[in-house]
Amino acid sequence: MKATYPPFDMVLFGGTGDLVIRKLLPALYHLHRGNKLPEGRIVCLGRSQPDTATYLEKIRPQVEDYLGTFFALDIWEAFTQRIDFLQLDVENPGDFQSLGKLLDKHPGRARIFYLSTSPDLFAGVCQNIAAAKLNLGNSRVVLEKPLGHDLDSSNQINDTVGAYFTEQQIYRIDHYLGKEPVQNLLALRFGNTFLEPLWRREWISDVQITVTEQVGVESRAAFYDHTGALRDMVQNHLLQLLCIVAMEPPASINADAVRDEKLKVLRSLKPLDQEGLLTKVVRGQYRAGAAEGKPADGYQDEPGVAPHSRTETFVALKTEISSWRWAGVPFYLRTGKRMSERLAEIVVNFRKVPHSIFGRQPMTPNRLVIRLQPNESVRLHLMAKQPGDQMRLRPVFLDLDFKEVFESRSPEAYERLLMDVIRGDLSLFVRRDEQIAAWKWVEPILEAWESNPEGPKPYTAGTWGPAASSALLSRDGLCWHEEA
Ligand code: BG6
Repeated sequence: MKATYPPFDMVLFGGTGDLVIRKLLPALYHLHRGNKLPEGRIVCLGRSQPDTATYLEKIRPQVEDYLGTFFALDIWEAFTQRIDFLQLDVENPGDFQSLGKLLDKHPGRARIFYLSTSPDLFAGVCQNIAAAKLNLGNSRVVLEKPLGHDLDSSNQINDTVGAYFTEQQIYRIDHYLGKEPVQNLLALRFGNTFLEPLWRREWISDVQITVTEQVGVESRAAFYDHTGALRDMVQNHLLQLLCIVAMEPPASINADAVRDEKLKVLRSLKPLDQEGLLTKVVRGQYRAGAAEGKPADGYQDEPGVAPHSRTETFVALKTEISSWRWAGVPFYLRTGKRMSERLAEIVVNFRKVPHSIFGRQPMTPNRLVIRLQPNESVRLHLMAKQPGDQMRLRPVFLDLDFKEVFESRSPEAYERLLMDVIRGDLSLFVRRDEQIAAWKWVEPILEAWESNPEGPKPYTAGTWGPAASSALLSRDGLCWHEEA
């Protein structure tokens, strides 16, 4: 069925950049192909291409590559009828007048300004949008991470954007919130009754959130070497996942109801004291090893990385939430590049049975594994009786494989999020106060690292990170999911 949302104009700043080509245009293509996009135009902006035809010719092979078997020439041609390319220098106010002329062709449409540029350009872009009077009541601005380097710089960016757009117009993207299994976790938690009474300290022993990648720093050293894994992944994606796992049931799915609950979690994260900063946080950096069966360079030998860089490519940490529901339950977070597998999953470990009636048979505690990627699934580990004349128990699992059950392709995170921007739904976007709370919690770690002469611990590319990561859990009598 054709969507009935009002028409829109989406302006993509950074139109020749990686994000637009690899994520945004493919996502919009899928939405177009699924007949989900309302009427509207997509305006890609950049400096390097002269006109729309040359731009489309240049980007097509890359978009095609990304879309793989979903690319069809007739659909692409119909889709690109919606696209205009406009040469624009973000620092030249005159160019924004030309953009205005293009947008004025369709008065009344919701205007979406997607800032897929480096954040140091945000201020200038917003200023020029305002000076050219392009921001109308129904306009929206979408901000890509990283939103700052620390609390101060994030406040500066938010203040600048906030001078021209209201909070209700600002869509701060954390693409992890757009992933299907993350929204499914909301469905699982709040669309069923059986989990709720168990979802608390009395029944849960620990929670593990892992997001690992096999890729290294790729071509992003210029950005990554002064960012590191804590800012790139933990401050946003991992803490957001933690919020979805730990938040109280919101009163509704309304944006502020959900964001209020997430904010409470962030504000209840136990601050790390001096000792905790040393013992509950592990930072690592990959050394030469292997990735996907091929030799892989160490981080410091990657092109563009400073020779003695202390930037962390791995973080594992333990935190707790100070609340009646979660007091005393450790939450372990872990992320890294050049790891053994590409994996994103949330593992909820339940407590042991209080008394076993099955003699000395080993009893594996229940475990709920929510797999975000690859192979989106929810798996509940249980004990069951093995068929036969004896009472022998063994671990089994109940599996919900999304591909099998729903027999359809799961939309990419950006498809969902772009559609939400078009329909004006802020629920899956990060509010400013959430961002502040996340930075406040993370900043002491950054400060402690800064002043600690001991740099990141080395780990071999293609492994699960430094030994200290396993030790973080073994000290508590636990182990990471893959070690169990
Ligand atoms: C981005 C980080 O936000 O997320 C990247 O900047 C990382 O460094 C990426 O590779 C991971 O996203 P996904 O969806 O591929 O797991």
